[in-house]
Amino acid sequence: MTTTVGGATPADPAAAPVAGLVASLRAIVGDAHVLVDADMRATYETDWLGQWHGTTPCVVRPGTAEQVAAVLQACAAAGIAVVPQGGNTGLVGGSVPRGGAVLLSLQRFTELGPVDTLAMQVTAGAGVTIEQLQQHARAADLDFAVDWGARASATVGGAVNTNAGGSRVVRFGTMRAQVAGVQAVLADGSVITQLHGLPKETAGPHLPSLLVGSEGTLAVVTAARLRLVPWFRSSAAALIACDSLVDAVALLPQLRHLPSLDAVELLMPEALALACAHLAVRPPIEPASAGAFVMVDCAAHLDPTDELAELLQLQRGVLAVGAQRDLLYRIRDHVTIAIGARGVPLKLDVAVPVQHLDRLLRAVRQGLRTQAPAAELIVFGHLAEGNVHVNILGAGDAEPRMRDLVLTAAIDLGGTISAEHGIGVAKADWLERLKGPAAVAALRAIKQALDPGNLLNPGVLYPPG
Ligand code: LAC
Ligand code: ZN
Repeated sequence: MTTTVGGATPADPAAAPVAGLVASLRAIVGDAHVLVDADMRATYETDWLGQWHGTTPCVVRPGTAEQVAAVLQACAAAGIAVVPQGGNTGLVGGSVPRGGAVLLSLQRFTELGPVDTLAMQVTAGAGVTIEQLQQHARAADLDFAVDWGARASATVGGAVNTNAGGSRVVRFGTMRAQVAGVQAVLADGSVITQLHGLPKETAGPHLPSLLVGSEGTLAVVTAARLRLVPWFRSSAAALIACDSLVDAVALLPQLRHLPSLDAVELLMPEALALACAHLAVRPPIEPASAGAFVMVDCAAHLDPTDELAELLQLQRGVLAVGAQRDLLYRIRDHVTIAIGARGVPLKLDVAVPVQHLDRLLRAVRQGLRTQAPAAELIVFGHLAEGNVHVNILGAGDAEPRMRDLVLTAAIDLGGTISAEHGIGVAKADWLERLKGPAAVAALRAIKQALDPGNLLNPGVLYPPG
């Protein structure tokens, strides 16, 4: 089921005050970069999986921070909100227009600065894709550490705004650990440029860090200064079959001793089966033969195959190097798409202390048995962080109850309702339950100070009103 968001305000480009705003926006960015035709707007109005849909009177595509500033001022003057959007690969409805808001696309911010090999940093425009950034870094023998399946479309701006995670967090941390600086435009049109990326500085709170994970509610990020990591050209992966999720978790201490450990991903049998079926490839190990699969990736300057081979002597699993490793990653990267091809799931990105992962999934299964026995549960994620993507297909009317059950269980087990996808509009009504009233009041005070008119991405993070 597609969720249509907002819609209280008519999104008719000919309606006042939108018509006047459209003219102002054209004067700022040029006619070619204000899209009002329904056909042109369509791809911006629905997310990549068709899960979230909204309407916008127009898409505006500024090309400089100064144009972003002018766009924000024009929208503020017209009393029309702004939804920033990068690669539109989000999963929580945070970049889909709502309530007649203008859609501000950052896709023209594609500039990549020279790689600074001394500082191991680079400045990247908000619209640079993660894959372009990785290729750019690799041309200088470095790499960008945050990586996930949507790398070809997902952008730097979106990654900063959602504190994106992905598969290499076990080694390098999330986006928060990579952001050394940003350029960002505030709601009043002022531009903050902190792109020097000094590795040491204690001069008050770090504004760039405040914007990481702010989901477009505090500023429009136009560029980021990003840390780079060594490019490990040698890698080897393994798929390990475990009898149970408990056994999979018990592998972690051994895995953490691998000097070249780069990723520890979890594929529950149904996720492995579904992705392989979608890609029409034979599963590396029969999915039904295990209770859980752990995909381990090692990367180093020197071939790490022996490290993994040694580990595998004590485990049931297959080693995957070269084309086999590529295939394993293709399977892993396609789980979300494979699920999307079957239907629009209830999709929840939760994390718990990893020792409680099994309890979490037991609670989910128990809930499904009573609430939606015919529904399909597909779970996968990032084992080292106790982060699972719980996907439920066919829950029907039980969807809201299952959503409550999963999120409540995650909180009760000391976890979180979002590990990497963000709060968006999908979980805005849950932020306070997670963080408590004092923390949310502090966050709202920051929002109020920086965006008193609630111009930027209203409805995201906090429920309206
Ligand atoms: C993944 C995305 C969906 O882990 O977070 O594939
Ligand atoms: Zn993920």
